[in-house]
Amino acid sequence: MTDFDHIAESMLIQLWERVRFINEGTKLELAPSDMIVLRLSWTSFVAGDLSNRGFECFLRMFKNHPKTQEVFEFARGTDSAQMQNSSRLLFHVTRVMKYIGKVVENLDSLEDVVPMLRQLGGRHGTAGYNVPPEYFPFFGEAMRQLMKEGSKNFDDKKEKLWTELYTFIIDQLKVGQKEYGSQKNLCLLMKEGFKNWDDKKEKLWTELYTFIIDQLKVGQKEYGSTKKMATT
Ligand code: HEM
Repeated sequence: MTDFDHIAESMLIQLWERVRFINEGTKLELAPSDMIVLRLSWTSFVAGDLSNRGFECFLRMFKNHPKTQEVFEFARGTDSAQMQNSSRLLFHVTRVMKYIGKVVENLDSLEDVVPMLRQLGGRHGTAGYNVPPEYFPFFGEAMRQLMKEGSKNFDDKKEKLWTELYTFIIDQLKVGQKEYGSQKNLCLLMKEGFKNWDDKKEKLWTELYTFIIDQLKVGQKEYGSTKKMATT
C-alpha cells in the first residue's frame, strides 16, 4: 500500500468507527456533575506534568504485574532509574496520558475520541505491539492507586467513576485490537461485516476512496513542497 492508501484507510476507519459507535447504543452514561468530578480529579492528578505522572503509573504497573514490563522491548530487564532516562519510555508514557486526557476533555462527545481509541487498539494487536488484552486493566489499576494515595478526597464515588471511564477506554482499545490488530484491510472488514455487501456498495466505496486519494494528491502537489503558501 502507498502512503496515500494508508492515510485514506485511516480516515475511512475513523468515519466507519464513528458511525458504528453511534449506532451501537452501548454508551457511557455520565451526569454533567460526574464529568466535572472526572475533569477536576484528572487535572489535580496530572498537576501539569503528564510525563512524570505517566511514568509513576507505569512503574507502579510494572511493580504490581512484572510481566507487563516484558512487552516493552526497551524496558526489559532495566531498573527504574535506567527507565527514567529512557526517552522512548518517556515518550510512550506521555502519549498514553495524552490519550486519556483527550477522553476526559471529550466526555460529552465520546464519538469524537472512540475512533481514535479503536485505531490505537489496533496498533496494540498481534501485528503491532502485541499486548495481551488482559494487561490493559493493570494500567488503570495503577493509576487509581496513585490517585488514592495522592489525594485525601479520592472517595468511593471517584473510584467508581474512574473505574467506569477507564473500563470504557480499554473496551474501545479491545474492539480495535480485535478488528484491526492483525492488519486486516478495511474493504475486507466491510465485506465480512455486511451480509448485504454487494457490487453496488463495493463500487460506491471505491469511488469515495478514490475521491479521497485524489484530494490528498491535489494537496500534495500544491502544498507538498517546502514552499510556504504565501510565496506561491
Ligand atoms: C489506556 C491504556 C493505554 C493507552 C491509551 C496506550 C497508548 C499508547 C500509545 C499512544 C502508544 C504510542 C504509539 C502509538 O501511538 O501507536 C503506545 C505504545 C505502546 N503501548 Fe500502549 N497504551 C495503553 C496501555 C498499554 C498497556 C497496559 C501496555 C502494556 C502492558 C501497553 C503497551 C504498549 C507498547 C509495548 C507500545 C509500543 C512502545 C514502543 O515500542 O515504543 N500499552 N500505547
